[in-house]
Amino acid sequence: MNRFEGKVAVVTGGSGGIGSAISKRLSSEGAHVVICDINAEASNALAADIGNATVETVDIAKSSEARAMIERVVAQHGQIDVLCNNAGINRRGALMDLTEDDWDATFAINVTSMFYLCQAAIPHMIAAGGGAIVNTASQWGLHPAPSHIAYNTSKAAVAAFTQNLARDYAPDKIRVNAVCPGEVRTDMLAAGLKRTGRTFEDLDKLIPYGRIGKPEEIAALVAFLASEEAAFMCGSLVEITGAQAVA
Ligand SMILES: NC(=O)c1ccc[n+]([C@@H]2O[C@H](COP(=O)([O-])OP(=O)(O)OC[C@H]3O[C@@H](n4cnc5c(N)ncnc54)[C@H](O)[C@@H]3O)[C@@H](O)[C@H]2O)c1
Repeated sequence: MNRFEGKVAVVTGGSGGIGSAISKRLSSEGAHVVICDINAEASNALAADIGNATVETVDIAKSSEARAMIERVVAQHGQIDVLCNNAGINRRGALMDLTEDDWDATFAINVTSMFYLCQAAIPHMIAAGGGAIVNTASQWGLHPAPSHIAYNTSKAAVAAFTQNLARDYAPDKIRVNAVCPGEVRTDMLAAGLKRTGRTFEDLDKLIPYGRIGKPEEIAALVAFLASEEAAFMCGSLVEITGAQAVA
């Protein structure tokens, strides 16, 4: 498939676990991918690997950095067709475990960055006649797992942000959707497991499908939602969980 030939796609958290799979998938289907991540080393290594990519080492929680990045992309490439708001952090804990910094950082990176990036990108998409935005929410934003109140609440906000943005900009042919993954094999999940002493294999046994998700499987869904094949999908929150129930 070559669904993104001639398209420019920005992927935040683009060199992380799920983000690198999204960057690779969109690039393999013809997109010029802008790998936007705070981790320069991983981003440069990924760009060298996939070829048709630009690295933007940016802290998306900072308004001026995030907005300037979008303007640079449009100045360099003339357009921005796809925006994947995928970067996120997970500060674990129930209410009394968390600091104000945990709460503020979670919302700054997981939610407010989307406000900056969408506000900067949407005028360019409108001028071009449309575009696609795919946000990475989480199953836990819809059905909260215990002791992740900041993360889960931020992902519920991502879900609401997605639906609001979709309603407001559908008339401009900007489709906004979100993926809501269950647990996926990445460094983020590995960090959580380290705290509890569990393994990926322990989690595999809890999933009716027999295992947790792979980054490539989330990337395939993101690519579908970003492509014209999903032309009538707008404002959808798509769960991808292997039939997992949160407990
Ligand atoms: N792994 C899971 O089980 C899982 C499940 C559901 C949803 N998610 C969501 O998927 C997304 C990707 O998660 P992942 O598992 O690949 O995690 P990850 O930690 O592997 O990747 C996150 C990436 O975001 C980047 N990042 C963090 N803060 C940033 C900032 N301020 N500016 C720019 N980049 C920044 C990191 O450098 C990293 O590359 C996140 O939004 C996460 O909440 C993950």
